[in-house]
Amino acid sequence: MVFRGLNQYLFYARLHYEREKTMPFKILKKQELVPTIHLMDIAAPRIAKKAQPGQFVILRINETGERIPLTIADFDRKKGTITMIFQAVGKTTTQLSSLKAGDELLDFTGPLGNPAHIENLGTVILVGGGVGVAPVFPQARAFKESGNKVISIIGSRSANLLLWEDRMREVSDELYITTDDGTKGHHGFVTDIVKKLLENGTKVDRVVAIGPPVMMRAVAGVTRPFNVKTIVSLNSIMVDGTGMCGACRVLVGNETKFACVDGPEFDAHLVDFTLLMNRLAMYQPEEKQAFEKYKCEREGCTCLMNPPKKVD
Ligand code: FAD
Ligand code: FES
Ligand code: MG
Repeated sequence: MVFRGLNQYLFYARLHYEREKTMPFKILKKQELVPTIHLMDIAAPRIAKKAQPGQFVILRINETGERIPLTIADFDRKKGTITMIFQAVGKTTTQLSSLKAGDELLDFTGPLGNPAHIENLGTVILVGGGVGVAPVFPQARAFKESGNKVISIIGSRSANLLLWEDRMREVSDELYITTDDGTKGHHGFVTDIVKKLLENGTKVDRVVAIGPPVMMRAVAGVTRPFNVKTIVSLNSIMVDGTGMCGACRVLVGNETKFACVDGPEFDAHLVDFTLLMNRLAMYQPEEKQAFEKYKCEREGCTCLMNPPKKVD
């Protein structure tokens, strides 16, 4: 591990120290909100004390587990809890989804990344796609509390996969829903609504979009001609989360940035989304293999990883 200066070493040492003092981290609540998307509350008072909208944690389930980043979807300073919403997409998130209240996580580090820039701007459009609705929620609440008019647009593939409609409604002046298959709200994409609002002359001072990279790129494409500042939260692959490994590097305005320490939020109009998507797909064969192995071990099957010995 190469440290970039004393400050970075001290930062890492402090994170390690805090982890040692508070581990392990108890799961207080676990709930499947919609198919494949889960909510988890973790007892982490030191992190809850400092957490801000826009920040994330990096967790590890056990000694042999990998580190994965998840956004802080909510926090309760009084109760000392952090809420995460995650989608089971591969080995680690599926393993995480199999845990229940009372179980523990070995590592839980944060808050990481820069807080979102929340200020009184006027009118702010918050766009959340899929599981991206969860990280959008604390920002929508904070923009509302700062005196903004909040217009929220949340979308999913289908009505049964739509997250937190009630919570988003509570913190929004206007709420639009879109589904790809038309089972709820507007039949189409979140970008259709952003475009319609801008074309109708709605004065918009900021757009914040969080969701799959392809959605964030599309929102950036819609807002660029209207010259509306647009912020996206980049979900590049992360390992240490403290600016040391370089795994999360992204290109923003032709400059290399580390999403974990320089972001995760960036100006959408400057992000190289093609590079982001290529880098996100870099380890797919290994990820697939790890998931197959996990499923085999969990189901006690011997087919893939332990093929039966040949009998002569
Ligand atoms: P795998 O099969 O290993 O990976 C599936 C895909 O996830 C990969 O192809 C890759 O594109 C991505 N991925 C894999 N490993 C990592 C990694 N270490 N870091 C980042 N991406 C990875 N997901 C949520 O559901 N909810 C959230 O709130 C959330 N917040 C995030 C915040 C940040 C700052 C970042 C960077 C990512 C966030 N993600 C979130 C994505 C989440 O980290 C990945 O879905 C998860 O790591 C996949 O792990 P896996 O082993 O289950 O799947
Ligand atoms: Fe290692 Fe960002 S995750 S530098
Ligand atoms: Mg993985």
